[in-house]
Amino acid sequence: MESHLPLTEPKEAEIARVDAVAVIDFGSQYSLLIARRVRELKVYCEVFSPDVPWEQVAELSPRGLIFSGGPGNVYDAGAIMPSSSIYDKNLPILGICYGMQAIVYQQGGKVRQTERQEYGPSILHQRSKSPLFWNLPPSFEVWMSHGDQVVDLPPGFEILGSTENCPMAAIGEDRRIFGIQFHPEVSHTPRGKEILQNFLYRICGCEGNWTVSSIISQSMREIKQKVGEGNVICATSGGVDSTVTATLVHKAVGEQLKCIFVNNGLLRREESERELAAFKKIGIDVTYADATQRFLNRLKGVTDPELKRKVIGEEFIRVFEEEATEIGRVDFLAQGTLYPDVIESAVGSAQRIKSHHNVGGLPEKMGLKLIEPLRFLFKDEVREIGLALGLPPEAVWRQPFPGPGLAIRIIGEVTPEKLEILRMADWVVMNEIKKAKLYHEIWQCFAVLTDVRSVGVVGDARTYGYLVALRAVESKDAMTADWVRLPYDLLSRISARIVNEVPGVSRVVYDISPKPPATIEWE
Ligand code: XMP
Repeated sequence: MESHLPLTEPKEAEIARVDAVAVIDFGSQYSLLIARRVRELKVYCEVFSPDVPWEQVAELSPRGLIFSGGPGNVYDAGAIMPSSSIYDKNLPILGICYGMQAIVYQQGGKVRQTERQEYGPSILHQRSKSPLFWNLPPSFEVWMSHGDQVVDLPPGFEILGSTENCPMAAIGEDRRIFGIQFHPEVSHTPRGKEILQNFLYRICGCEGNWTVSSIISQSMREIKQKVGEGNVICATSGGVDSTVTATLVHKAVGEQLKCIFVNNGLLRREESERELAAFKKIGIDVTYADATQRFLNRLKGVTDPELKRKVIGEEFIRVFEEEATEIGRVDFLAQGTLYPDVIESAVGSAQRIKSHHNVGGLPEKMGLKLIEPLRFLFKDEVREIGLALGLPPEAVWRQPFPGPGLAIRIIGEVTPEKLEILRMADWVVMNEIKKAKLYHEIWQCFAVLTDVRSVGVVGDARTYGYLVALRAVESKDAMTADWVRLPYDLLSRISARIVNEVPGVSRVVYDISPKPPATIEWE
């Protein structure tokens, strides 16, 4: 993976103040992408809903604001608008698509639905010189996606660029407020990153001082300050998020951190041994709780996917709480929550598809305060921090594994026999994918034990075994995913090995569904 956060030692000034900008989210599917792009340019960035009080945004001390696109029309009754006082803050603003239209509307210009809607590539011709397009050619390719467009400029604005269908495709006012009708954040605007960089560096005056070491030192200072003399517990699963969280907290407060590893009996083959060894290598003490039997007892007869998740979540909390009580007084719970989860629950209104809970509900129950050092980071950033903290590469590059484990990869009732079949099949998949040197290229790959049985033939004998499905997906953040075009000969090897080596399996199929409409896990 290309590293975008350089590993330089932070200067004192960086420690004192990291440049930041705020993205105001008007409901665009690209808001998180804008945040990612800004961070790739080493400027810290958070996404805010337009209705949050300004004081909350101000805590970031932003050097500039980016208004995202959105599905609305500015002239609709009830259209979401930025607070009009936002223009008094004297901060540079970049409005993208709807964000631009909102600026124009509020500043006294006009936006109209025009006959020609524009979706797809277009060429922007620069009409006047602007720092926003510094070092860009007179004409360049941009990605448009809009129905409405600006038809009258507000006072003080000038046209910076036009496309064939959109005469006011880029506008600006006094080197401070800018609007662009196209999307610089998507890869289909090839020079988009430079446009964002010009806005951040040339217009907002950012220096790009948000680096891995500045994140680590700032985060450790915050943890120390928050925890004081208190005690912290952390559920370590071996996943990169919880491992980086535990390592950061451990570096900050040492033995005041107690880690608990719950074996729910739904792990892969040799997983708990591997994880405990990894933590030993990192130097963190972990309390091990083998609760296999408890989980299997509770899962008896459970076939509904959501009920499975619920049962596992509840039992996890019970076991974890018992173990935590043994430890003595505890004040904080450290969790590896990532930024996409924060955004999803704060800004998004998406319907709940699956319950993801590992220790949900526990902080309230035990009166614990939360420590979430990764809550403003994306997965790839977490991995870079893990590497910078000196974690073993196998811990950093581990593929995600769901909290409910193999239970949501066994369709129907979970039994010890089925778990054993799936563990063997999973072992083959991992082994072959690693041999093919594809493990790090793929977001997740695994086997699913379906509830379907089919007829086969081995030698002269009829068999009637389970159908195993293979799943391999590529993704940036698990919000969307596509199936990996694995080489046929690799698929063939995996299939042959599973059918030959795993008793009880007679057939293997490959899942070629993208997310959406499918999800990554089957349950
Ligand atoms: P889906 O199946 O919703 O999965 O596309 C998206 C990502 O989340 C992982 N996943 C979970 N992780 N607890 C977790 O910690 C859960 O309950 C859970 N369910 C799914 C899944 O493996 C994929 O990476």
